[in-house]
This record gives sequence, structure tokens and C-alpha cells, in this order.
Amino acid sequence: MAAALSFPFYFLLFLCSVLLPSHEAAFLPELPNLATISFEEGYTQLFGDSNLMLHGDGRTVHLSLDQRTGAGFASQDLYLHGFFSASIKLPSDYAAGVVVAFYMSNGDVFEKTHDELDFEFLGNIRGREWRVQTNVYGNGSTAIGREERYDLWFDPTEDYHQYSILWSHERIIFYIDGIPIREAVRTREMSGQFPSKPMNLYATIWDGSIWATSGGRYKVNYKYAPYIAEFADLVLHGCSVDPTDDTPVCQGNDARVYDSIRMSPDQQATMSKYRVKHMTYSYCHDRVRYSTPPAECTLGHETKSFLPSGEAKFNYRRHRGKRYGHSSSLNSADL
Ligand SMILES: *[C@@H]1O[C@H](CO)[C@@H](O)[C@H](O)[C@H]1NC(C)=O
Repeated sequence: MAAALSFPFYFLLFLCSVLLPSHEAAFLPELPNLATISFEEGYTQLFGDSNLMLHGDGRTVHLSLDQRTGAGFASQDLYLHGFFSASIKLPSDYAAGVVVAFYMSNGDVFEKTHDELDFEFLGNIRGREWRVQTNVYGNGSTAIGREERYDLWFDPTEDYHQYSILWSHERIIFYIDGIPIREAVRTREMSGQFPSKPMNLYATIWDGSIWATSGGRYKVNYKYAPYIAEFADLVLHGCSVDPTDDTPVCQGNDARVYDSIRMSPDQQATMSKYRVKHMTYSYCHDRVRYSTPPAECTLGHETKSFLPSGEAKFNYRRHRGKRYGHSSSLNSADL
């Protein structure tokens, strides 16, 4: 009897510990069955043979980069909308030129009209932080990159942190540890460039020597290899669709849930706070690339905080060393 009673309790505790690594994660959308899965349940290896290793009953994946190869995995299914998440721990120490990516794409299926949603982590030289970049491509619009870059309020190499993407018919929200950091809404202006075709989820590590760190100035140094990125708490909560279906739709309860997700005023305030403090680059402010900003950009008063290159001015003033302490459990008030 005790066991029967305690099961749901421990299960709840387990869910909380998996889904709510900190109290901030209360911001994550309330989705039914937001369970984590094992690698075998949802993924398949893409490349890198033994540089992909499973740990912890197949629920943690290590991807490593050495002189020979990087590594990557992909979801077995294609998804049209959903919530996609992983807790990621990045390689520590010297990581210039190393790129870790957690992203959705359909570039294999739609070569000319692909869609893509990215979290990209760009390694750095010792003593400087990893940077995070998000990007949105829609319908093959690779000529129009929608990159934003940020720094983090924690050391992403010291512990796992949760990176998530919500994608519905209406909107895309990127989250870090449950805190929304970017939202893209389907607007008439963006129209065809809002990602709208089924995508796979991917995770990779690779050598980005030619561009990743200071425009290619610092290359991957294999003296420090292997570089290991760890992925856990894998969540694939989406409308999986048949790749041969010409007009797939995401219907039913899950679709209604995805479409009903809106940020609360609190979430919006937290997102703004994060962006003011931590966004180091935005395509919307990049007058070198876009003399006229893409239509969805609403510029407002924040423009004065950015240089014409799209870089945030504070990024130049700021002391460039490590700014975070050793605590990885700051709450959103400390962002
Ligand atoms: C996507 O691009 C293709 C080819 O350029 C075009 O025919 C199609 O109408 C576009 N789709 C949307 C939704 O705009």
C-alpha cells in the first residue's frame, strides 16, 4: 500500500526534478506529458561513429569533437510544431572554434525552401564565455539570416542548462532554463518566411574554425581535444508527421495547446530584461547587412544601444573576462 501511495508522489518529484531544474522553469509552457525520453526512443545517430556515446541508461548523450570528426544525432521523426528541449553542458577550458548546435531543420527534405530554428553555441578562448546564437530561417530565406547573439548569466560549461524551442502555428519562443529569451510571431510582414514545414530536431558538435570565434581568428586547438558536449533531459513533444504527406497538419489537443501558448506579462518583462542586459547582437540593428531592417523588426528606443554593425554598445565597454561567479542557480531577478 505504501508503495502504491508513494509511486505517484515520487513520480511527481521525479518530474519536478527533471522538468524544473530551478524555480524559473515555472515559465515553461504547461504541456501535457512533458516527459523526457531516452536516445533510442526518439533519436538516431547522424555522424561521428564512436564520438557519440550514450550514458545513464541511454538518457544522456555525449557528442565529442576530436581531430578525426565531430558527431551528431537527429530525431527519427519529422515534426510540425511542438516543444523541443534538452539540457546541455558545454565543453570547458579552451574551446575556440568549437560549435555546438541544437536545432530544427528540414534542409534535407526541402533543399531550396528549407526552414530552420537554431540554438548555436560558439566556443571561445580561455577566460572568455561561450556565446549563444539563435536564428530563424523560413522557406529557404538563407539570404535573410535572423541571428541574435547573447551572453549568459551562468557558466554553461559547469553544469547542465535547459535550452528549449516552442514552435506553433502562431509563434516561436526560445527559452533558456525556462526563461523566454526570444519570440518570433507569425506576422503578415514575415508571412512566407515564418517556418511552416515539418522539421527534424538535430544536435551536433563540429569544427567551426573558419568563422566561429572572432571571425575565424581563433581556430580549434586539438591539443585540448576531445571537446565533449553532453545532452540530457531530452524532450520531443511535437506533432510527428508522415514525410510523404504533402499537406501535413498538426491537429487535435496538442496543436490546440501549442497554439494557445502566450507569454504572460511577467514572462515578457523577464524576456525584455534579459535582452537588454545580455543581447550582444541583433540582425534587426545591423545596418551594414540590412540598410532597411526586415519587416518584422520593431526597433523603438533600444536602437540607441546598438552600433550600426548590430553589436550592442555595452559589449565594447564591458570588462571581457568571466563575469559570473560559481553559482549556477541565480534566479530570474539576477539575470
Ligand atoms: C516558399 O517558396 C517557394 C519557392 O520560392 C514559393 O513557391 C512558396 O510560395 C513559398 N511559400 C510560402 C508559404 O510563401
